[in-house]
Amino acid sequence: MIRINEHYQKLQNSYLFAEINQRIQAFQQQHPERELIRLGIGDVTQPLPDACVQAMHKAVDELAESQTFRGYGPEQGYDFLRQAIAEHDFQARGANINADDIFVSDGAKCDTGNIQELFAQDLRLAIPDPVYPVYVDTNVMAGRTGASQAGRYQGLVYLECTAENNYIPALPSEPVDLIYLCFPNNPTGASITREQLRLWVDYALEQQALILFDAAYEAFIQDEDVPHSIYEIEGAEKVAIEFRSFSKTAGFTGVRCAYTVVPKACTAYTAAGVAVSVRDLWMRRHTTKFNGVSYPVQRAAEAVYSPDGKAQVAELIEYYLKNAAYIRQAFQRMGFACSGGDNSPYIWIEVKQDAWAFFDFLLNNAGVICTPGAGFGRCGEQHIRISAFNNFEKVQQAMQRIEAALLHHSPL
Ligand code: MLT
Repeated sequence: MIRINEHYQKLQNSYLFAEINQRIQAFQQQHPERELIRLGIGDVTQPLPDACVQAMHKAVDELAESQTFRGYGPEQGYDFLRQAIAEHDFQARGANINADDIFVSDGAKCDTGNIQELFAQDLRLAIPDPVYPVYVDTNVMAGRTGASQAGRYQGLVYLECTAENNYIPALPSEPVDLIYLCFPNNPTGASITREQLRLWVDYALEQQALILFDAAYEAFIQDEDVPHSIYEIEGAEKVAIEFRSFSKTAGFTGVRCAYTVVPKACTAYTAAGVAVSVRDLWMRRHTTKFNGVSYPVQRAAEAVYSPDGKAQVAELIEYYLKNAAYIRQAFQRMGFACSGGDNSPYIWIEVKQDAWAFFDFLLNNAGVICTPGAGFGRCGEQHIRISAFNNFEKVQQAMQRIEAALLHHSPL
């Protein structure tokens, strides 16, 4: 008899964004005439930077000629891209990261989901609340938690992020081995200063713990005291893995390219206390289960680091940050407390009522799609997340519609 992995049955409903899509589809079937504005999932709307488009065209032409054709590439990425990443994203910021610490992949979602495979089953796990659901769900699937009770899985240490702590979690009060952090944060939009991040690195060094640092939104950082990489903090290369993505940086959500940094010094231990290189484990996994990102896509990603690419990416970021500032100001004007939107494309809004009810209210009365905060964890109840990824005109229209809806209908 074929049997299932019963840990899947502990999972709550469907994946957050799949659940939202089902609700939208049901709404659209009932109201085919309504034009919706999507400020829900963080999916980009602006076209790819021209430098990336040109590089991708050129690479496709190379594949059309027998002299320049390429088949399988290296699983961990071509050297030209790994070198460019190491130099521009790390060495230029004083971080001692080299090309062979970089693993190119097709998405930070996959990497943040897959990385847990390297670690023991009975780890003590620290997970922020609210949180990008992939970190939790993949550990539930792997059997690292108990059942869900009142929206929380047994066996996880939740790091609460609330307005009281400016959405920066305090160090855990009980010892943990594996810590997920995401800054600039999805969903709260909060960013962490160097001094605050140093506390976490020091904690991990002291506890022989490991930090999984999701920096997918790094390109949105504007403030000088906010580190772009955890490796700007001394000692982090021993205790941290960093995830980056070209999705939000350069509009690659549909193109698919990301990378994970696992420095040579990064160490985990056997039950007997023997130190093992985490990079070697990830290399083994990556080469066994992944066959690399396509050549044209890696050439397009490389072009992000060219002078033209850098200028075009900066324009994209500025565009979305202008949307973010507009959204935040609009919600503040409407009387809501907000965080994020300054070093991040997400605005986290306290709605003081059930998050899914407010989601339905905006859908029905404004035709605007947001993400209900409850989908990110218990601390997200009574919050919604608005994404700045859309055209400025649509963002303006969405804010006008929301303002009108709040004026004419009670969300309660
Ligand atoms: C989000 O909206 O949280 C992200 O777009 C999801 C993702 O990057 O997978």
